[in-house]
Amino acid sequence: MLVVLKRDYEEISCLAAHMVANAVRSKPSVTLGLATGATMLGVYQELVRQHKEEALDFSRVKTFNLDEYAGLTPDHPQSFHYFMRENFFSHINAAAPNIHIPDGRINGNYEEYCAAYENSIRSAGGIDLQILGIGRNGHIGFNEPTSSFASRTRLKVLSQDTIEDNRKFFAAGEELPECAITMGIGTILDARKIAILATGESKAEAIARAIEGPLTASVTASCLQLHPDVTFFIDEAAASQLTQQEYYRRVMRMTALLTPDRLS
Ligand code: GLP
Repeated sequence: MLVVLKRDYEEISCLAAHMVANAVRSKPSVTLGLATGATMLGVYQELVRQHKEEALDFSRVKTFNLDEYAGLTPDHPQSFHYFMRENFFSHINAAAPNIHIPDGRINGNYEEYCAAYENSIRSAGGIDLQILGIGRNGHIGFNEPTSSFASRTRLKVLSQDTIEDNRKFFAAGEELPECAITMGIGTILDARKIAILATGESKAEAIARAIEGPLTASVTASCLQLHPDVTFFIDEAAASQLTQQEYYRRVMRMTALLTPDRLS
């Protein structure tokens, strides 16, 4: 894995967005795996800017989102459909049939629905580049602690930590989703390339455990240690509990010198 340490959120957002933009430019029909969460906003803003100012073309790009809350309709302001529309899709030229986000309205027949989601990823040729954030408990997508590293897209019960983290986004008294449909760890690890972003002190422990801790289903992001092409984009605060920062910086300098393509 490559660990890219930068000063602040703007820098990591820009670098990750450039990785996505390069993927789109080098393969206009690329299949992207997309994520939600505040961390992703900077990436989407930069991609929208490149679409508007530099003609970055999404017309043939296919997208698959990681997850969606079970029970939320696409127009619910906290749904991931809404997030993606507001922050990304309504500002670019992706074609509606190429956009895939799990449907939170599914009620029953989850297995069949989730198997169909997996099938559509396969039919699209698999995910070329998956972008990820990380939860404070080390989850990716909604793969909560104890999720199997072999898991596929499925209905997942959210952990209490995640429900508490999300409470602030919902209106007082509103019922909070307790479940989500999420790509599994196995689904995520099938992506050809993965970029994961983290910003701020609140992610420092999860990041240290994901990169330097043991492989464990208790920190599902640690599964990324098994993947051959992962780049972590981390700002100073989120990197603060990493013990090998000097080594990661040296690796970056050598990579820029010897294999610069690895950074794009
Ligand atoms: C949710 C999403 C994750 C995301 C995480 C962190 O749990 N399912 O994909 O990484 O939130 O969100 P934020 O970037 O807002 O901290």
